[in-house]
Amino acid sequence: MRGALVAGRASTGGKRKVKGDNMSAYKVRLYKESDLHSAQELFISGCREHISPCFYHALKQPRCWLLLLVGLLLPLATYGSIVLSLLAGIGVLIILWLPGREFFLYHARRGVAVDLKDIRKYYLEREGYCFWVVELEGEVVGTVAAIPAITPHEKNVELKRMMVSSHHRGKGIAKLLCRTLIDYARRRGCNAVVLTTTSIQISGVQLYTKLGFKTTETDLYNPFLGLVGISWLGFRYDISSSG
Ligand SMILES: CC(C)(COP(=O)(O)OP(=O)(O)OC[C@H]1O[C@@H](n2cnc3c(N)ncnc32)[C@H](O)[C@@H]1OP(=O)(O)O)[C@@H](O)C(=O)NCCC(=O)NCCS
Repeated sequence: MRGALVAGRASTGGKRKVKGDNMSAYKVRLYKESDLHSAQELFISGCREHISPCFYHALKQPRCWLLLLVGLLLPLATYGSIVLSLLAGIGVLIILWLPGREFFLYHARRGVAVDLKDIRKYYLEREGYCFWVVELEGEVVGTVAAIPAITPHEKNVELKRMMVSSHHRGKGIAKLLCRTLIDYARRRGCNAVVLTTTSIQISGVQLYTKLGFKTTETDLYNPFLGLVGISWLGFRYDISSSG
């Protein structure tokens, strides 16, 4: 897991920008109909950016080296063909590229086809659901959503769709969105804010850790992501203990 986090850091997070912009220029507000396209675009690009880091992460896994080695050596040993060996090597690289690509593209397609298709209807017309955007000079630069997460003994809010435009990162926008959501959960008398993410989404993992979220067990598992050494992570922020 640690490996996954470190691998993701360089690639998903990018360099942290120097803070210094006037945060008051960023306005958090409820979603409105004219934000639909921007919110969808942010979500799609936020998903796609994890594809390459998944592949680079895969290349650091011993089991994937082994697969590559077998792919290269087997045709060489069996047919004595360097061309076949190289083709097999390329085939293995494609196989290692696919899990991240398929997972994040599926996630993007599904989001846009389900909840982000009609955000107003899905999030603003249902009890316990909500969707916020961050606006800068009329442009939507961040989003976050809340859905109810009811368990037998608790009333929780689940954080979804945390996305910040790559041009506006490192300025505290995600923190602002998280705090908006935590305040919302507190006002609704919830016990906690919960979420799940993957270990390759290092900037998200760092964000939640920084804000005091604790990691939790999750039974989510994706065999294809598992193949390239990426796991699901659960996070929880206790409202009662946060004062
Ligand atoms: C995760 C994401 C929302 C962070 O947005 P952001 O506005 O840049 O985050 P903030 O500036 O509010 O940073 C808050 C904290 O998060 C952590 N963090 C955010 N990006 C980081 C990065 N690239 N590397 C390391 N830590 C990072 C830091 O602890 C930071 O606090 P600090 O600046 O005081 O050290 C953004 O990178 C993003 O949209 N990523 C793609 C989509 C995604 O992965 N979403 C998370 C889904 S769970």
